[in-house]
Amino acid sequence: MVLLGTIKMFIVPCYFCSILLLNIYGVHGILYPRESESRQIQDLNGIWDFRMDDSTNRNKGFEEDWFKQPLKRTGSVLKMPVPSSFNDITETREMRDFVGWVWYDRQFYVSPDWIKKRVVLRVDSAHYTAVVWVNSIEVVKHTGGHLPFEREVGEHLKFSGANRVTIAINNTLTPETLPPGEIVWHTDSSSYPIGYFTQKTQTNAFNYAGLHRSVRLYTTPVDYVDDITITTSFYHSKGHVKYNISRKRNATNSALTVEILDNDGNTVARAQADEKDGGELDIENVNLWWPYLMVDGGGPAYLYTLKVSFNTSQSTDVYRLPFGVRTVEVNGSQLFINKKPFYCRGVAKQEDADIRGRGLDLAVIVKDFNLLKWLGANCFRTSHYPYAEEIMDQADQQGIVVIDECPGMGLRSINFRPATKAHHLRVMTELVQRDKNRPSVIMWSVASDPESDLPQAENYFRSIISHTRHLDSGRPITFASNKQEHNDRLAQYVDVICLNRYVGWSRDQGHLDVIVLKMTKDLTNWYNKYKKPIIVTEYGAGAIPGLHKAPSAMFTEQYQVDLIKEYHDAFDRMRRLPIPFLMGEMVWNFADFQSTSDSGLDRNNMGVLTRQREPKAAAYALKARYYHLMEECALISKN
Ligand SMILES: *[C@@H]1O[C@H](CO)[C@@H](O)[C@H](O)[C@H]1NC(C)=O
Ligand SMILES: *[C@@H]1O[C@H](CO)[C@@H](O)[C@H](O)[C@H]1NC(C)=O
Ligand SMILES: *[C@@H]1O[C@H](CO)[C@@H](O)[C@H](O)[C@H]1NC(C)=O
Repeated sequence: MVLLGTIKMFIVPCYFCSILLLNIYGVHGILYPRESESRQIQDLNGIWDFRMDDSTNRNKGFEEDWFKQPLKRTGSVLKMPVPSSFNDITETREMRDFVGWVWYDRQFYVSPDWIKKRVVLRVDSAHYTAVVWVNSIEVVKHTGGHLPFEREVGEHLKFSGANRVTIAINNTLTPETLPPGEIVWHTDSSSYPIGYFTQKTQTNAFNYAGLHRSVRLYTTPVDYVDDITITTSFYHSKGHVKYNISRKRNATNSALTVEILDNDGNTVARAQADEKDGGELDIENVNLWWPYLMVDGGGPAYLYTLKVSFNTSQSTDVYRLPFGVRTVEVNGSQLFINKKPFYCRGVAKQEDADIRGRGLDLAVIVKDFNLLKWLGANCFRTSHYPYAEEIMDQADQQGIVVIDECPGMGLRSINFRPATKAHHLRVMTELVQRDKNRPSVIMWSVASDPESDLPQAENYFRSIISHTRHLDSGRPITFASNKQEHNDRLAQYVDVICLNRYVGWSRDQGHLDVIVLKMTKDLTNWYNKYKKPIIVTEYGAGAIPGLHKAPSAMFTEQYQVDLIKEYHDAFDRMRRLPIPFLMGEMVWNFADFQSTSDSGLDRNNMGVLTRQREPKAAAYALKARYYHLMEECALISKN
């Protein structure tokens, strides 16, 4: 049902370009490191040595081979927590606003037991371009700030005595990065120092950088499970799981056992696959994975475990993949999860918190999920880049639905060029590789706010969308548009239309009384043209916490409340139509976040929560609405 006629037509020609790309980039699995009887994990997080290369050409570190010795011998170093953004850790402007290469290193030891194993170094996120050395030997380079990469490093390790890992990271954004940006050189030496440059960005979120997520070593046997792909469906009470296992092996004889365990650990299905990599398993009386409080759904986010045991004469590799049985479909103008219409009560989020910037923080993650539930939300969009896998795990476990967005934020005409496209295709491959088995992910978003009215955008995104569809034909594809139905050129290629709207805020500033009229007309026009489901993925207003005024005015807490209520009125009018097509609403934003210095204010204050996660008045208004929607949804499903 998801594949619409017009889209199928261009899968065929681009099938080959995707295959080509897969070959060029040598796609392999990027399974999340999970401990098992055959796999050990060694955390390399902690406080690393750090130094920024503030030489004029930003290239001294490479010229002097800083990776060849401990960083502290190359010059003075700072202490830097991993994971974290480096920007807010010191008190210097140079560090906060630094653009160029920064260097990290640390020592570690490995057990001699690991000699016989495959040892992999995995970096979950290094923003933006990274080079990694182990004991002075370059092991991997990666471009892209929000997705994991890894490399086998066993041959470079010392199993007695200290090892050193060095990571250099460049946070420069160019027209060919995602998100894009530009370095501007100021050559007028009468007004600027020699070699002066600034980083321009195309989004108002601060470009936090560094080792944002975990750095780990993990082991597998030499014969190992490289990747697992599953898709699920159900018919009446029977669940159906299709799986593909990719194995890497040296041994000639091998056997593969695939089992499904329920959440008490009981085996509910089992297959002996031997030489075949793919197969299908049924689950009787299946417990479906339901979004949080999708009423009458039969409980919460139920997770099974796919236990894969890969046995050779040398070893057995065991990997346990959590998964849920659920379906996602677009049918007509509606979005269905498990064959029931799904309405998204959502928020647009950020990974952003005081001091650690975008660095992984488990306390912030758990707090944010508690707040999502407190608000009565059931979904979020990863605006505007893929979030940490630990966040995605919580979404899977707690039943929060995710629109998984790549970092293609704010693409303009200068970005629609081959190098950006090649990188964008690569990022989509990495994103789908990472998140393809997650029940919480119901949709891929290929971009947010591109100049989708340009002809170049159409050519560019046709490839990105068809490539993504080729990687995963099971999930709907979308992008978030800030254009109108009469000039947008991309909506024709996607399954669900996502709209970012700021009437009463950046348009018609201060005029709340036009919101209902403008929004209902706007949404109706889109529906009449495309007959596809629509989600409003952004709407909202800024509010400086503690600023009040009656009657309300822009930037006060009351104005934010008044504005979202007008939108809710417009949404309700759409929801009561005989053929509903509005499938959700997501307020911009969950919490305040750090913005760039050229966006006027230090803090983007469009959160319904402060950056410290304290509720503003709008949070209570949103909570009241979401609880009301939940009750309404319960009444409908009971009838
Ligand atoms: C690293 O940063 C400098 C300063 O912005 C820039 O000139 C250079 O192109 C960057 N290199 C890479 C590979 O990003
Ligand atoms: C498994 O792989 C085969 C062959 O590549 C493919 O046709 C099938 O769709 C795959 N199944 C899943 C669940 O990915
Ligand atoms: C692969 O198998 C060959 C022959 O059985 C053996 O000599 C070699 O050491 C094996 N390689 C690894 C990495 O185990």
